[in-house]
Amino acid sequence: MEINDKVIIVTGGASGIGRAMAERFVREGARAVVISDLNGDGARQVAEKIGAYPVQTDVASEAQVVALIRDAEARFGPVDLFCANAGIGAGEGLDASDAEWELSWKVNVMAHVYAARHLVPRMVERGQGYFLHTASAAGLLSQFEAPYAVTKHAVVAFAEWLSITYGDKGVRVSCLCPMGVDTPMLRSAPPAKRERMAADRMMSPEAVADVVVQGLQEERFLILPHPEVLDFWRGRSADHERWLRGMRRFHAVAMEN
Ligand SMILES: NC(=O)c1ccc[n+]([C@@H]2O[C@H](COP(=O)([O-])OP(=O)(O)OC[C@H]3O[C@@H](n4cnc5c(N)ncnc54)[C@H](O)[C@@H]3O)[C@@H](O)[C@H]2O)c1
Repeated sequence: MEINDKVIIVTGGASGIGRAMAERFVREGARAVVISDLNGDGARQVAEKIGAYPVQTDVASEAQVVALIRDAEARFGPVDLFCANAGIGAGEGLDASDAEWELSWKVNVMAHVYAARHLVPRMVERGQGYFLHTASAAGLLSQFEAPYAVTKHAVVAFAEWLSITYGDKGVRVSCLCPMGVDTPMLRSAPPAKRERMAADRMMSPEAVADVVVQGLQEERFLILPHPEVLDFWRGRSADHERWLRGMRRFHAVAMEN
């Protein structure tokens, strides 16, 4: 899919990867880019700077996701590309609270389901539409915090399910699974984890946005800004026991404080 002349919504668009994607989409000639974020001021500032349209949205609320889509469609027409990108890291291991699991589940997974529930039927009717799900390498490799790894796995599965179920009806799906990207989310991580991610080739959000645009043009399901993720993922299915041993060593270093 070419970005030119498309109507695009980016959730979590006020910061980091979402912001870089929105900027890049505007430069690629999108007809309209809607920047949705919980941080309404941030969304407004970015939108003003790049010529996009801001909407304050809590994607954990289905009503707000529906309102976002309705607002965008009323102003700009049918949504061609929905980037479900807002995401959070809440809680760490077994001590993560129910509230942290619940919030991770809502923001990292259900927000994607809410958008698909409301957009997919209309995309099928038109015979076209595109979803970009921002998951994470953690959604393929289970590293780092438990609520994050588990919910990111769930969103990879949901994206696969959407592609399997609606791919032949015109709905295209991509799933973005980066490792370390230099954003406020990563900068708030514990130092050992940040260092580990930097050692694993931290990328800028702008470089990720470049890879995203290319992946969308090629209509590839897995968009992997760090290509080595594909090797780790293949290693996992080729020899699961060996992969688990390797990941234990990785985890021990990455999560020490
Ligand atoms: N930074 C990384 O290393 C990395 C790696 C892999 C995947 N990711 C994923 O990329 C996505 C973007 O993360 P980022 O690194 O750009 O982080 P970020 O913190 O810079 O941006 C996330 C944005 O999402 C918004 N947001 C949070 N909760 C929201 C909610 N309930 N409703 C609407 N907006 C909400 C925040 O206000 C923020 O603007 C996330 O899904 C994250 O899990 C990040």
